[in-house]
Amino acid sequence: MKIVDSIESLRKWVAENKANHQTVGFVPTMGFLHEGHMSLVDAAKNRADVVVMSIFVNPLQFGPTEDLDRYPRNLERDQQMAEARGVDLLFVPTVEEMYPQAVKTVIHVSGVTERLCGASRPGHFDGVATVVCKLFNMVQPDFAFFGEKDAQQVAVIQQMVYDLNLPIEIVPCPIVREKDGLAMSSRNVYLNEEERKQALSLSQALREAEQAYLDGRTPQEVRQLMLEKIQAEPLAEIDYVELLSYPSLEPLESLESSSFICALAVRFGKTRLIDNLIILNKKGREKHVAYDDDRKNTPCYSN
Ligand code: PAF
Repeated sequence: MKIVDSIESLRKWVAENKANHQTVGFVPTMGFLHEGHMSLVDAAKNRADVVVMSIFVNPLQFGPTEDLDRYPRNLERDQQMAEARGVDLLFVPTVEEMYPQAVKTVIHVSGVTERLCGASRPGHFDGVATVVCKLFNMVQPDFAFFGEKDAQQVAVIQQMVYDLNLPIEIVPCPIVREKDGLAMSSRNVYLNEEERKQALSLSQALREAEQAYLDGRTPQEVRQLMLEKIQAEPLAEIDYVELLSYPSLEPLESLESSSFICALAVRFGKTRLIDNLIILNKKGREKHVAYDDDRKNTPCYSN
């Protein structure tokens, strides 16, 4: 595996591979890799000839009171994991390399950024869209792979790629969970034993939501069930629990006709966790969690 920290070396490597007719798969990350990231690498290796991963903790997407300084980092371990899984090029730029001056151009995607994390983390998705657009311009991948744990991020990137005619196929990949159901996240490392135990209420609430949907309950009833499940945990501080259409992220009248997402963000101590369940609903009320092939048929994913 080659490791580079400059945009120039990255561009040179990509150009050489493109000259050899290699397709490029891209996995952007903020490091502190876990099995969720590794599943993106697996998907990229299945789809593309060569795989580029970036590790960059992007200051632009953290609010002033958020965890930028304490965000977990372990580059040595990340390098070993990326290499073992078959990443071909690891791009590890410094903040100075990515932002030699304060940016004067920011990408703002409207609509899909208004609710959920967009509402509770003002400016967050501007930071994400801007850095992802910069990385796309540097790597010029054929395919880019994003985890569905950040389902709103996937919707934002899809919209940006569509609106700006970026010639990149976005490939959403399913959430990877620990054996007990907790969605994998670099931030799980912050949880103490009791918080970790109570955080299981998130995936349990989503499982109950799925059953309630299958039983024909209304969005309000499903949301209420989820709230009650999570509120039963004394350490849980709910940021949001929402049911919205997906990927447009608009309020829902019923769960019958459109694809939708049950999304939640909950704090345990200083740690804010997110999780979700996406139901593609075009086949009626049957268990049908979203996968790539279905996604490509929706207008937002047609680029
Ligand atoms: O999902 C992440 O890790 C980040 O938001 C991303 C896409 C790498 C942009 O910084």
